[in-house]
Amino acid sequence: MIELRGVCKRLGSREVLRGLDLVVPEGLNYVLMGRSGTGKSVTLKHVIGILRPDAGSVKVDGVEVPGLRRKELQELRRKMGYLFQNGALINWLTVEENVALPLVENTRMARSEIRDRVQETLKVVGMDHAARQFPPDVSGGMRLRAGLARALVGRPRYVLYDEPNAGLDPIMARQIHELIAHVRDRFQVTGLLVTHSRQCALDTGDRIGVLDEGRIVAEGTMEEMWQSTHPLVRSFLSGHAD
Ligand SMILES: Nc1ncnc2c1ncn2[C@@H]1O[C@H](COP(=O)(O)OP(=O)(O)OP(=O)(O)O)[C@@H](O)[C@H]1O
Ligand SMILES: [Mg+2]
Repeated sequence: MIELRGVCKRLGSREVLRGLDLVVPEGLNYVLMGRSGTGKSVTLKHVIGILRPDAGSVKVDGVEVPGLRRKELQELRRKMGYLFQNGALINWLTVEENVALPLVENTRMARSEIRDRVQETLKVVGMDHAARQFPPDVSGGMRLRAGLARALVGRPRYVLYDEPNAGLDPIMARQIHELIAHVRDRFQVTGLLVTHSRQCALDTGDRIGVLDEGRIVAEGTMEEMWQSTHPLVRSFLSGHAD
């Protein structure tokens, strides 16, 4: 379980997080919605220990992330996949080399084992036919699929998705959403997604939280969100923020 309690974080002159409480239950996709610049990426960075809170607690599986030593942090990151905004692939490595990176760097798996795992994972995301291509030569949707494969290749228990549909056309975006829902079921991963897209929340969200001014201002299942009278929730659900 991912559990943030009372997290405060100041960056520069801005108090970005102001007592954020966020609990991501096991086996679900939790979608954190918020406008641009509200601290969505900052929240994810706390979960994988790139940022430390000024106050409050960040726990994964009951363990306090900011207190971890380097080695323990690496251990934690093995449990987590991270899909970066726009995939963030390395342009001079092929798709399969990109996907293999976390295994090459963080495990002692044999080369043949790595090759099999990469192939299998590329298949899951529908990218096995493009394994030898370079990221600049494939579409944005394919780069995102490759980024997802890289996030999944270590078979993590958690996947953090940063704007998984940014820059995609609506059809490609929906394919990625379907894939994210599929991944939850196929690998039993717990997902924390951040987005401002209503469609993304509709397609992938088992639970939705809305972030504003450093806190969760509304939370619940999609059905519960439809009942909400909170203006920001209304605005997200009407699709104005898509
Ligand atoms: N390292 C940093 N130093 C100073 N300010 C930062 C830093 N990282 C983020 N910020 C600021 O914190 C705020 C939240 O940033 P964040 O990247 O989390 O927004 P976001 O919700 O992910 O937005 P977007 O939807 O545009 O990705 C922004 O005002 C940003 O400028
Ligand atoms: Mg962001």
